[in-house]
Amino acid sequence: MTTVIYPGTFDPVTLGHLNILEKACLMFDSVIMAVADQTGKQTAFTLEERYQLCKTATENMPKVQVTMFQGLFVDYARSQNCRIMVRGMRAVSDFEYELSLALTNKKLNPDVETVFLVPSLRYMYLSSSMIRQLAALGGPLEDFVPSCVAKALKRKFFVVNA
Ligand code: COA
Repeated sequence: MTTVIYPGTFDPVTLGHLNILEKACLMFDSVIMAVADQTGKQTAFTLEERYQLCKTATENMPKVQVTMFQGLFVDYARSQNCRIMVRGMRAVSDFEYELSLALTNKKLNPDVETVFLVPSLRYMYLSSSMIRQLAALGGPLEDFVPSCVAKALKRKFFVVNA
């Protein structure tokens, strides 16, 4: 039985992240979606909010278990007896960061492997910061994020009709 971990900031989770999760579920027995506390980013949603949104967004994905983690990914992976990290690779622009993340993790724990999955074409351009900007400016969200996230973004950015 192969369990993999899909870590991320998920600030917030988008349809692009769910697309990667669907692909991982086709390939592996179970997937831990791990919401990271320490990512070096100033987040719009708290760790608990990001975790709850991921849980709601993956309710209909029985192979997915949502967790939170603090500290280094490699330590968390070891605590879960898991050695495979899944990451999405959207474009060439992701490559340098993803490669350095994968190599740093490999240096910290040589047993950890990174598997890159390419999202479906329609999600290639999505990013959480683009979604946050769209929400802040009152733009349409439904084509980009699950409905629970669209509602949470509207509440967060005080848009009427939330
Ligand atoms: N669909 C939509 N967006 C995607 C995506 C996809 N398939 N794949 C990546 N992204 C976007 C995210 O929306 C996010 O966009 P943003 O920067 O505009 O907000 C960006 O790509 C990357 O976010 P995410 O996938 O959430 O990952 P991350 O790079 O924020 O997270 C961790 C990186 C959590 C894996 C890393 O920080 C970590 O492991 N932290 C723990 C500490 C540690 O061990 N650090 C490494 C060694 S020092």
